[in-house]
Amino acid sequence: MPPDLLPRAYLALRLSDEAMARIGAACRVERFEGRGQPSKEELRACLGEIDGLLGSTQLPVDAEVLASAPLLRVVSNFGVGYDNVDLAAATARGVLVCNTPGVLTDAVADLTLGLIVALARRLPDAARFVREGHWAPGRPLPELGSDLRGKTLGIVGLGRIGRAVAQRAHGFGMRIVFHDVFRDPGEDGFCEYRDFDDLLREADFVSLHVNLTDETKQLIGARELALMQPHAYLVNTARGQVVDQPALTEALREGRIAGAALDVLAQEPPAPDEPLLSLPNVIVLPHIGSATRETRRAMLDLAIENLLAALRGETPRCVANPEALERWRARE
Ligand code: DGY
Repeated sequence: MPPDLLPRAYLALRLSDEAMARIGAACRVERFEGRGQPSKEELRACLGEIDGLLGSTQLPVDAEVLASAPLLRVVSNFGVGYDNVDLAAATARGVLVCNTPGVLTDAVADLTLGLIVALARRLPDAARFVREGHWAPGRPLPELGSDLRGKTLGIVGLGRIGRAVAQRAHGFGMRIVFHDVFRDPGEDGFCEYRDFDDLLREADFVSLHVNLTDETKQLIGARELALMQPHAYLVNTARGQVVDQPALTEALREGRIAGAALDVLAQEPPAPDEPLLSLPNVIVLPHIGSATRETRRAMLDLAIENLLAALRGETPRCVANPEALERWRARE
């Protein structure tokens, strides 16, 4: 195809030369040259003639951004989440929203188990003890942690990642209970269904694995935290907005739950004075659930594959809004 007839792709991510070359072989490429990623206003200013958009799961693709991109046919997210895109507006316009499920499941599940172990065995305290020079003959160790064997893990959302977490935790000898609005009560292998409130009352560890939607926003608030046991821990590797952060801060400060491990926050990166950062019983990570070399490579491959397939007029492998396909095909 003559180069001036190739579709136009806008890359809102920094990519390797190899990835750029792969996209450049099939598209006219424009990319964001600023720091971080484009704001909503910056996006609106540059999408006027763009057919395909590749960006992170934090890129704000709302109805106004979509309205500024009349030719847009695909938003390809570098990640499994797609809460950054107004899905209804995209569907109404016949714009496909693609994501990268599957390839990051193990990485996120590994990190979740890592956080559970870190909380149970008080790893941050132990590391601080050594670093600050307190490890000396005859000196007592910092407060002891607890075993995982026989403890109950409550998984909220038994999808791909929740299930991979359950498998790992089962290997550690934990009992698994789960709640999932898309599942009927009953057993699922070694996982037992619980009502949401019963899960919160029973679990020694509660781990969140739901998508961010209107229904799951602030799913864990003051009421839910009050149901948890004082020795229980909360782990969130899903989305920050699933938790009411001020309510969590309060519960942690008052010792109403024992601690929390958060790979995600309501605002990322957090403000320097974010109160959670100063609490001793909290581990905060910079949203690294999927951030291993192998997984990030696989995610990028899939995100590029999705983008290029849609721009060729072929149905991409992973479409988050399949109900848009008919309208999308009619636009091709
Ligand atoms: C995802 O894939 O949604 C992860 O949270 C990375 O953004």
